[in-house]
Amino acid sequence: MQPGQRREAAILGSGAFLPEGVLGNAELEALVDTSDAWILERTGISERRRAGAGETASVMGWQAARRALRAAGEPQVDAIVVATCSPDSLLPSTACLIQRRLGLPGIPAFDISAACSGYVYAVAAARALIRAGSATTVLVVATEAMTSLVDYGDRSTCVLFGDGAGASVVGAVPEGGIAAVRWGADGSEADLIYYGPKAGDPASGNGLRMHGKGTFRIAVERMTEIAELVCADAGWSAAEVDLLVPHQANLRIIEAAAKRAGIPMQRVMVDIDRLGNTSAASIPIALAEAEAAGRLRPGDRVICVAFGAGTTWGGMALQWNEPGAR
Ligand code: UT7
Repeated sequence: MQPGQRREAAILGSGAFLPEGVLGNAELEALVDTSDAWILERTGISERRRAGAGETASVMGWQAARRALRAAGEPQVDAIVVATCSPDSLLPSTACLIQRRLGLPGIPAFDISAACSGYVYAVAAARALIRAGSATTVLVVATEAMTSLVDYGDRSTCVLFGDGAGASVVGAVPEGGIAAVRWGADGSEADLIYYGPKAGDPASGNGLRMHGKGTFRIAVERMTEIAELVCADAGWSAAEVDLLVPHQANLRIIEAAAKRAGIPMQRVMVDIDRLGNTSAASIPIALAEAEAAGRLRPGDRVICVAFGAGTTWGGMALQWNEPGAR
């Protein structure tokens, strides 16, 4: 980039980390009153990853960050933004713990709490820093140890969530990259998904709680709307989108939103069958997997959409860049 040149932001390197532990539907059958057939039919999930001892959000996020930095050609990083709702601890931030492991003292590092929309929020913040000229390269990490929040006595939620991390190096480019971003929230819907005891049952202990049906309906509506909005902002038709990379909440949500947005499933990235819902980490993991599988080539038009607790939502339209390109 030359001084005074127009600055856009692009993803210049992607990485993911998945813990080796696998939690299959058969193991859940032994924990709660559920069945492989119900989980598969209602969610599309066969198995999810479960972090082992010591595999905290910061450890998984650090691994994903290392891979993304390597893919981007080891650039100098100006800021670290981490999206997580399952941090190692309330303080210090998971961003600072990842910063320590990466050996990058001195630059700003902070967490964003926007649940399943966290990655899009973090990229939106990174893009704003880059376009304002406050940073040239921002390391975005989304990392979740969701199984540590799950109540394995609550069958309506425990079958959904898994662990993992994804990272993106977001850097300044003269053109291309992230063409449009939309993000929003509605705190009046805060009770739809939360961490705490079951409503009306304070003795039930803390866990991830969700009003499944209501969340499902709103998730489909918002994800469709956001996909359409970012497409329109970027000046693309649905037919011009090469890949839709949605938050992996439920296969039925993904199918319904893609259908309404007019994007056939052959052009939708799906890994929920193997990974479940990894909250903020789901989109960057899916991006890294899509790139590794040859489903993302430079110039491809990509749409990402997310919806989660808060409620929060976000989406972006981006043109895929050559890894490490400037
Ligand atoms: O990532 C953040 C955003 N999250 C989401 O968007 C998730 C949105 N919601 C969902 O994915 C779905 O609503 C769920 C997967 C959570 C539930 O699926 P559903 O088709 O909406 O089921 P439901 O909640 O309407 O429950 C239907 C029945 C109920 O039994 P009764 O009352 O009809 O006898 C549930 O108790 O299924 C029962 N059920 C289960 N049965 C077997 C709920 N969970 C299970 C289970 N195994 N694990």
